[in-house]
Amino acid sequence: MRVLLTGGAGYIASHIAIELIAAGHDVIVADDLSNSSPLAVERVRRIAGAPISFTELDVRDEAALTALFEKESPEAVIHLAGLKAVGESVAQPLRYYDVNINTTLTLLRVMAAHDVSTIVFSSSATVYGTPTALPLTEESQVGVGLTNPYGWTKSMIEQILRDAAAADPGLNVVLLRYFNPIGAHPSGLIGEDPKDIPNNLMPYITQVAVGRRDHLSIFGNDYDTPDGTGVRDYIHVVDLAAGHVAALDHAPSGVSTYNLGTGQGVSVLDLVRAFEAATGVSIPYEIVERRPGDIAACYASADKAERELGWHAAKTLEDACADSWRWQSMNPQGYAA
Ligand code: WQD
Repeated sequence: MRVLLTGGAGYIASHIAIELIAAGHDVIVADDLSNSSPLAVERVRRIAGAPISFTELDVRDEAALTALFEKESPEAVIHLAGLKAVGESVAQPLRYYDVNINTTLTLLRVMAAHDVSTIVFSSSATVYGTPTALPLTEESQVGVGLTNPYGWTKSMIEQILRDAAAADPGLNVVLLRYFNPIGAHPSGLIGEDPKDIPNNLMPYITQVAVGRRDHLSIFGNDYDTPDGTGVRDYIHVVDLAAGHVAALDHAPSGVSTYNLGTGQGVSVLDLVRAFEAATGVSIPYEIVERRPGDIAACYASADKAERELGWHAAKTLEDACADSWRWQSMNPQGYAA
């Protein structure tokens, strides 16, 4: 199938591209390069040994997106284009609502105009807000008490897609709720390359390990968790990517929703120790104040994806630590020369 990846030069999408090609699909990449590098697309072509079309565009630009659909004739879309930094969204809410919502509305209009009826959406565990019970299942409460505009955009886009499918029974929607993606392709050629200071834990750890940062600040050790530090469900990005192929190939028609996680809760200190054990690199850290908006614990039940898509996370936390380190040590400045 010809699959359009919006945000296709990004960390997660570049890994999805490789899995799609390995599964025999053709990949079309559209990205505005606001938070990614064209070098990532080059590296994907090198890893996959296959051509990939790449168009630089803003998905909100209806004329440009229409021209892309007319030129490339996608048969399905995996929609990852959007802004994703939780803290930044609190400081810039209008930009987050504009980009994340309007990319989706424009995409849906252009898909309808070209009879493209399958969309897989990059949603997030943030739609669950502060969990009332763990593990989180797809039936857990969503859209209540979210703590940031980023999470609200994901929740609103899920609703937009459900309403669009209700109005057009021919539209197939798969909502994939990501937990915490970490790791990199084992080649070390592609990986996570945040602009500026990393918001997320693993890229901060790897930048400490490679000498770009002095030490890790651990945001609080007084949470109600086994060691007091925040607990999350860290999923290897290659497993996450494979989940998208499984969704394209096996999701039922209509609207379906799946958690993509490992089902295991891992604390900040657990991850630091796993990284040190997997790489032999020591990570100095300092316990500091909690980060506003953080929750104590969040991890998935991924049973539904296993049952209905035949997918489960297969890689270990150690694999993810070793693969993240290989990417960062081979690319100390990320994709920058
Ligand atoms: C993980 C844990 C922090 C950095 C967010 C988004 C989510 C997804 C992943 C997009 C927490 C602690 C972190 C640091 C630390 N993004 N931490 N020091 O906040 O769980 O999820 O990113 O889809 O939607 O909400 O991820 O990696 O920022 O934090 O102690 O320098 O690591 O307090 O406990 P988070 P994270």
